[in-house]
Amino acid sequence: MERSYENYIGVFDSGVGGISVLKECAALLPHEDFLFYGDSAHNPYGDKTPEEVLSLSMAAMEEMIRGGVKALVIACNTATSIAGKDLRAKYETETFPVIGIEPAVKPAALDDSGSRILVMATANTLSQDKYYHLIEHWGSNHTIIPLPCVGLAQRIEQGNLDGEDLMELLEHLLSPYVGKVDSIVLGCTHYPFIKKQISQIMGSDVPLFDGGAGTARELKRRLGVAGLLSDSRENGRIVFRSSVNTEEELRLYQWMYGQPIEE
Ligand code: DGL
Repeated sequence: MERSYENYIGVFDSGVGGISVLKECAALLPHEDFLFYGDSAHNPYGDKTPEEVLSLSMAAMEEMIRGGVKALVIACNTATSIAGKDLRAKYETETFPVIGIEPAVKPAALDDSGSRILVMATANTLSQDKYYHLIEHWGSNHTIIPLPCVGLAQRIEQGNLDGEDLMELLEHLLSPYVGKVDSIVLGCTHYPFIKKQISQIMGSDVPLFDGGAGTARELKRRLGVAGLLSDSRENGRIVFRSSVNTEEELRLYQWMYGQPIEE
């Protein structure tokens, strides 16, 4: 990538999912410029080996750093769980913040909706120490049920959010838990795009929690600490890049950006 994104904030995911986090970041920081990079050519990360996830994440981060970004958001739970520590050790400095995302177990546990929390995420996210630490810390008074959603991010990646096959997979995954959980954590950044479909199956009274808004707040805080917040009064720019470098893919990214992520 040519060096033309100085003062942009880089947001990276294994594909389109991170666009849900980008939306939260841009809503909270409307005067910042954002460069989104999706590694759709290598999606999904959810069932790759840790070595593969680390090396793909490093390649994507370096691509954005070459582009000149001033900070980086790892908008992928899988990449953060597996590689976040190594990525921060390698790239983060006092003046170059690197922010990761984690499944929103904390807000779900602090909410008073009830003690049974279903955590939807990739198999990789649910098998990492980071996840175990999270439930150890926040879930001790709760029943936390991990649900590896194999294949779900790939379906969302196609962009056919109302597709029958997506709904069938979702029903297959969720039907055993209907009426049996009090809240749901969307522990993969692709899932906020199908909140409506999840609520259709689980009931609209079951609250859904995702890590996007918390990540955006942490980004703002860290930019402030590093003295990197934009002083522009203009609306920021949003640029999309993908490892699937076609017009069609970039149109899909733009379209996803226009999709609602609120329930
Ligand atoms: N968006 C990624 C996450 O938040 C996962 C999708 C994938 O499997 O690549 O975990």
